[in-house]
Amino acid sequence: MTIHIGAKPGEIAETVLLPGDPYRAKWAAETFLDNVSLVNDVRGMLGYTGTWNGNAVTIQGSGMGMPSLSIYANELIKDFGARTLIRIGSCGGMQAHVNVRDIILAMTATTVGSPSQSIFKEVNFAPCANWGLLQAAAKASQSIDVTTHVGGIYSSDTFYAERPDLDEQMVRHGILGVEMEAAELYTLAARYGCRSLAVLTVSDHLQTGEALPSDQRERSFGDMVEIALKAAFA
Ligand code: ADE
Repeated sequence: MTIHIGAKPGEIAETVLLPGDPYRAKWAAETFLDNVSLVNDVRGMLGYTGTWNGNAVTIQGSGMGMPSLSIYANELIKDFGARTLIRIGSCGGMQAHVNVRDIILAMTATTVGSPSQSIFKEVNFAPCANWGLLQAAAKASQSIDVTTHVGGIYSSDTFYAERPDLDEQMVRHGILGVEMEAAELYTLAARYGCRSLAVLTVSDHLQTGEALPSDQRERSFGDMVEIALKAAFA
């Protein structure tokens, strides 16, 4: 047990999928895994462990934003021995050729500042995905009927952005989408020698204002879980 994860030793798998929403963790575990058991409900941040094609997998909610994800990823890696951590979540589209419902595999995650910023001081560390996972996810996405983009994303500290100039610079530099967690996940994975990747569905679009209808969210979320599981065990 840790401060935020109530699982017993051995109850967390080496491969962990991290949706922001704990109820998505429940849905994904019940839909995709066999032999599922609830391993964490501290603060309602549900976590489940089960098997996929005989491989042990934990699906643990991370909450929203880098500070929240940082708590769960730190404890999963340092106290429970997680080695492969894949975020599955949503993002806002930032380019004209990126549409709502498309999937983005985040090659890099640019940030203004993450919870790790204080250790880098003047250095602009470049958080990036694990190449093997990224490559496997790109391949897995080819078997799914959805447009997939691979490239840089922006991990923001705010959903309700007050800096349109910052968004403009991200767009200008080819950033595909904005979310709020991946940069810290990639940084922690680098620090502790783990593999990480963010698989994201475009749920809304910054320029067009379009948003994914709620009846399509479950399907998109299922696509991401499938890609993440195939990539983890490729
Ligand atoms: N997650 C989904 N859409 C987002 C947006 N527009 N900004 C930040 N995070 C998001």
